[in-house]
Amino acid sequence: MKIGVFDSGAGGLSVVKSLLHHNLFDEVIYYGDTARVPYGPKDKNTIIRYSLEALEFFNNFDIDLLITACNTVSAYALPEMNAQSKYPVLGVIEPGVMALENSQLAKDDAILIIATRATIASKRYQDALGKLGHSNITALQTGLFVPLVEEGIFDGEIIQATMKHYFSEIEIPKAIILGCTHFPLIADALQNYFDGKPLLIHSGEAIVEYLEARYDLVPQEKETSLKIFASDNVAGLRNIADRWL
Ligand code: DGL
Repeated sequence: MKIGVFDSGAGGLSVVKSLLHHNLFDEVIYYGDTARVPYGPKDKNTIIRYSLEALEFFNNFDIDLLITACNTVSAYALPEMNAQSKYPVLGVIEPGVMALENSQLAKDDAILIIATRATIASKRYQDALGKLGHSNITALQTGLFVPLVEEGIFDGEIIQATMKHYFSEIEIPKAIILGCTHFPLIADALQNYFDGKPLLIHSGEAIVEYLEARYDLVPQEKETSLKIFASDNVAGLRNIADRWL
């Protein structure tokens, strides 16, 4: 099976890392819209337009399935993308909610959702968790982490100060939904900040769990091959992939 993975930029490589680790596919075609990242501060219509333009890129490949690793795209553009594509387009929000549900938290346990401005504004995570009966949800837009991760800064003074800025007023959560592709890269820093207590829900692991449950997938004998493309500075993205993967 050949799949596509779409993200606004480099962050979706955190999802690719999980896909490669589980070795469920013959080939992964990655496309990062590095020319126009970040999507998180943009309006709904712009996010949808960019996402539909990304579909045109994937028309060059005979893929069986497309995963939008980007939470912001998953929050806004899935209906439109599915209406225009020949293959299913899956997002990461439903899998993330499913992974949290499988972790058997109590309905009044504190859950923290961190994501871009657009994802938080869409209320997709909050509504899905609310429908499942969760009553102690804090949703924070924490977009400052995105450029830091893009700069290769995963911990240290600036990350610590940013966490203090966002989290000083909240209780230690039982679980954190990493509702942005970039946040798995600061997972260790987040765990340390909250004394190693919260369970972290990671889109990459969540989508693997979701795919295994729905598509009857088993690990391949041959390693999944990966091709990386970008709308700008492909060499830069391939460099990041060499460091992250
Ligand atoms: N990929 C985006 C997401 O997961 C984060 C970066 C951006 O704002 O484009 O929401």
